[in-house]
Amino acid sequence: MRIDVITLFPKMFDGPFAESIVARARAAGRLELVIHDLRGWARDRHRTVDDVPYGGGAGMVLKPEPLVPAIREIKGGDGHVVLLSAQGRRFDEATARRLAEHAHLVLVAGHYEGVDERVIESDIDEELSIGDYVVTGGELPAMVVIDAVARLLPGVIDAASLEEESHTTGLLEGPQYTRPPEFEGRRVPAVLVSGDHASIAKWRRAEAVRRTAERRPDLIDAAALTPAERARLPRPAAKAPVPDADLVAAYRSGIGSYRIAAHFGISPATVRSRLRAAGVRLRAARSTPRGPTAAEVARMRATGLTVRELARHYGVSHVTILDRLKKDRSK
Ligand SMILES: C[S@@+](CC[C@H](N)C(=O)[O-])C[C@H]1O[C@@H](n2cnc3c(N)ncnc32)[C@H](O)[C@@H]1O
Repeated sequence: MRIDVITLFPKMFDGPFAESIVARARAAGRLELVIHDLRGWARDRHRTVDDVPYGGGAGMVLKPEPLVPAIREIKGGDGHVVLLSAQGRRFDEATARRLAEHAHLVLVAGHYEGVDERVIESDIDEELSIGDYVVTGGELPAMVVIDAVARLLPGVIDAASLEEESHTTGLLEGPQYTRPPEFEGRRVPAVLVSGDHASIAKWRRAEAVRRTAERRPDLIDAAALTPAERARLPRPAAKAPVPDADLVAAYRSGIGSYRIAAHFGISPATVRSRLRAAGVRLRAARSTPRGPTAAEVARMRATGLTVRELARHYGVSHVTILDRLKKDRSK
């Protein structure tokens, strides 16, 4: 595989890829990594690659003139061009596997305020983000992508070790131990020193499921679990009940029962009956129709939100949402 990187700071790549697995992959000829200085494509005396943003605002934007020719020259006929961007799709193990299938990747590291949008429209195949935070430039994100992809290339890492790793099967890996068998009174689980490989495999699988359910419940739904494994999953902890005092304080501050219900995730009827039980005199219902207009609801519904999501969004009941949708249709 060949990976080209276009950057304003080529030296940043020297250290990280001179060591360890990526260095070995390069030395073994499994990965060709070429770092390009974007300024090499600048045509003016000052080697300008950025300019102020149209419409004003802080920072500088990478210009299209040096960047587009750089991308086109480097990608040749087969390069898949990836822009590292805080606005991209979240990079994950599945994406690393997909990228590892390409023979040639071109990674573009943005800097300053980012890249002129026309470059993205015309020459970028996909945008990837390494997480929901902003770093100074695309260099570190590009390194993350290179490392995650390089270790998946055939022959770079022992295939068995890849198979058991976190995220490979959609699960986190279970706990690992090494010698000594006892450290500060903590013993290695007996099964791991039993020599019984079938039991060890079973234990590891069960630990991976348990750990994923505990730490990343968001991954568990999509993980390939057997019906028995799914049945054994711990039940999600029940939410702490909302104290009456919080409901009363919210109501006394002038907020209506529908909004309070949406905020605490309980039904409006429950809010009203608990307020009454707490001795609160409920305000008379408003004479003007509450909540959004039929047209507003219809517009939001067209964006794909469900009735339940709309009810939560507007802080009204789902009956109100259905009523507004009906009114809109009968217009
Ligand atoms: C300071 S950031 C620009 C952020 C941009 N103004 C925005 O609000 O999305 C400069 C560059 O760092 C890179 N970058 C920042 N955060 C990133 C992230 N989470 N994932 C990938 N690249 C990122 C991008 O290449 C970006 O062009």
